[in-house]
Amino acid sequence: MDPTTNLSEPMETQETLERLRAEAPGRIEHVESVEALDELAVELTGKRSPIASGRRSLGSAPPEERRDLGRAINDVAVELDALIDARRSVLERAERADALAADRVDVTLPGRTPARGTIHVIQQVMDEIVDIFVAMGYTVATGPEIETEFYNFTALNFGAAHPSRFDSDTLYVDYGDVPEEILLRTHTSPMQARYMEQHDPPVYLVVPGRVFRRDQVDPTHSPVFHQIEGLAVDGDITFGDLKGALEHFAHEFLGPETLVKFIPHFFPFTEPSAEMHVFTNGGWMELLGCGMVNPAVFEAVGYNPDEVTGFAFGMGADRLAMVRHGVTDLRHLFDSDQRILEQYR
Ligand code: PHE
Repeated sequence: MDPTTNLSEPMETQETLERLRAEAPGRIEHVESVEALDELAVELTGKRSPIASGRRSLGSAPPEERRDLGRAINDVAVELDALIDARRSVLERAERADALAADRVDVTLPGRTPARGTIHVIQQVMDEIVDIFVAMGYTVATGPEIETEFYNFTALNFGAAHPSRFDSDTLYVDYGDVPEEILLRTHTSPMQARYMEQHDPPVYLVVPGRVFRRDQVDPTHSPVFHQIEGLAVDGDITFGDLKGALEHFAHEFLGPETLVKFIPHFFPFTEPSAEMHVFTNGGWMELLGCGMVNPAVFEAVGYNPDEVTGFAFGMGADRLAMVRHGVTDLRHLFDSDQRILEQYR
């Protein structure tokens, strides 16, 4: 049908209405989208439709026909609107159903799990050790990995010619024009001196950290490893307190039945000194070095050795991680091989 048909004559108008009645329902019924239906609706009933021009021509129709013609045009318009609305709701429902089907989420599909990281096994073991002492009231502090010779050795009563100071054992750092030798700390013990300089007694302190020595790399040695330092200073601390605290630690970390023994040893900064050994996996193993704080250290940090006593200890976290997890080669812990590290969730 030509939408621009001008229904100026009543007879023509009647015919056009008949044609609309006959053809429009089929066209509406065959439209397959809301968009196409909107276009068809404009064509059939919009401003330039035969319905609209029929209404416009009413004024020029003979007055006696005007009423019937007007009613006829209206009837057709109402019929077409009803058909278009009915078709629109059918199409809209279908389009909504299609959109939902396209969007459908299968909630029974397994999710896509992101790869989950894990705390490094050495860090886990250090956290565990630190927690045991925190539960006994100790504070946690950390210190610099790049250290002065004073804090690493001198304040800790190492003699001027002590072999640990040799650069065959210790990694020195070229720090430019500084008054002192700078090195990578060989143990966490310098934090004993640093902490006591800054805090009055009593002191109950643990210091986890990374340390460095000029060592070869093999299943039990690495030039970088980890220690946990401990220091307790108070009015009347005895060697019995040292044994009690460290035995308690061994029982917490390795099990309440674990046997411990103390073997005499030497460290410049403790006197007397000992190694604590523990019985695990069918044999004795050295777990840590310890001793009563040497009065010379108290003097170096400005404590009065007549007023305080204390004990100190230091242990290697890497070795404890190996014991705890049955790792036989230290290098497994440093190689960052995810196949290995992922096993220690
Ligand atoms: N700093 C010593 C070491 O690295 C361990 C230690 C710490 C010993 C504190 C006694 C007291 O071997």
